[in-house]
Amino acid sequence: MTTLGNPVAAPALPAPIPRPRRLPFFQFVRALRDSAITSFAQEAYELDIIERKMFGRRIFVVNDLAAIKQVLIDNAANYRKTELTRRILEPGLGRGLITSEGEVWRQHRRTMSPAFDHRSVAAYTPIMTGAAEELMAEWSKVPADTGIDVSTAMMEVTLNIISRTMFSNDSDDIVEIMARSAGDYQLEMRPNIFDMMGWPKWLAGLARSGVAQRTLGEFDKIIDRLIEERTRNPGSHPKDLLARLIAARDEQGGAGMTAQEVRDQVITIFLAGHETTAMAMTWTWFLLSQHPAEEAKLHAELDTVLGGRAPGNEDLNKLIYTRMVVEESMRIYPPVHTIARQAMTEDTLVGRRIPKGSTVMIVPWLLHRHVKLWDQPGRFDPERFSPERSSERARFSYLPFGGGKRICIGAAFALAEATILLATLAQRYTLRMVPGHPVEPQGLITLRARHGMKMLLTGRGGPRAGG
Ligand code: HEM
Repeated sequence: MTTLGNPVAAPALPAPIPRPRRLPFFQFVRALRDSAITSFAQEAYELDIIERKMFGRRIFVVNDLAAIKQVLIDNAANYRKTELTRRILEPGLGRGLITSEGEVWRQHRRTMSPAFDHRSVAAYTPIMTGAAEELMAEWSKVPADTGIDVSTAMMEVTLNIISRTMFSNDSDDIVEIMARSAGDYQLEMRPNIFDMMGWPKWLAGLARSGVAQRTLGEFDKIIDRLIEERTRNPGSHPKDLLARLIAARDEQGGAGMTAQEVRDQVITIFLAGHETTAMAMTWTWFLLSQHPAEEAKLHAELDTVLGGRAPGNEDLNKLIYTRMVVEESMRIYPPVHTIARQAMTEDTLVGRRIPKGSTVMIVPWLLHRHVKLWDQPGRFDPERFSPERSSERARFSYLPFGGGKRICIGAAFALAEATILLATLAQRYTLRMVPGHPVEPQGLITLRARHGMKMLLTGRGGPRAGG
């Protein structure tokens, strides 16, 4: 699992060693299910396009920037979410933004966009700061030399943030239920060999029947009740994200969403919007622990800009290095490692014929480590994201939030959240790995840390200074 001596990935940072040759078929399928990022050979980090056949169907991995633009923008109408994405997500998420297509998607995206713009995100930032401070208070009670699992802590704090943003005071019961449901859903819905063989949905999905009901049923009931109460008495509730979704009207035509549609969007936002940021934070803590010089630079910025006080929305555009650290962390460990589409009709990409029905994958994990796009791709260097260097970067070479019309609707939310969490907690704490704890990125739906991330907390300026 180390990458020593490998020119593609960093010598010191954990990543699968790219294999010199492609994996034989069944090993490839096993790798895809266990951790998609282990399925790639060296060629995937070097070529513009690679092709693999799977049970008569074609899969293309595209690294060429013009081709990526074609898939995400110029010919985006030809590339829809894959059948596999729908099989795995639709039973739980219904027709939320992630799974819907065409006119339904367009109308809902338009209707929901104002709830995620910079002004709305600014209104949510006190919740982010509050949750970060609560976590800090919890950390102050952790006995010295006790390791904590930072990935669990980050999941909890991001879940708290999204629940309070969505439901205000009604969020308490929901957090506990969701924490259980989201993990179970993801594990039980993983693609199986029958999906990959292209078996019909009902047959391949037999093992999954009832999973959505079993894992998300309880969550569903609470949401349905809240939507019903809120719709009945619209004036008597806080103006949280749920209220905004219920009240939202399409600017073209004025239609709102039905209760079922609001439910699908709520659960979609929950699932899309907490684990991703939690993983971005987990990898950021890990990277900082391995790079004391960059960590010192981060601390210097926090001391200058905040001088010990909690960050607010007005600090976000001053915490430039803090954000550069988060951006570089999402380059090395992109929480969404793969973006997949299916070609509706034949197309040509990088001079290759893409038959109708082919799967086209844009893989941030590969793209962010591609030898043609990055100098020393395996090195952690937040300076790559300085405002000057960012403006020079080739478009589509950095895609943590995807691109084109289906770019992450929560990108501004996530960046504000990650910056506030990092700024609040790093002001008080330095995190170091528990010696001997194995670190391995695992590509499930998000890029998780396979063994969690056991770290020790040290108060800055003396042991446990945060308390
Ligand atoms: C660091 C954190 C995050 C990362 C890396 C991330 C990444 C992504 C990516 C790559 C996509 C595009 C997928 C595709 O094109 O197939 C996406 C879509 C989406 N994300 Fe995020 N996301 C993050 C946080 C959030 C948050 C905080 C929310 C909500 C509060 C959110 C809600 C969504 C939704 C609803 C979509 C579907 C958008 C559409 O298709 O119109 N995400 N995200």
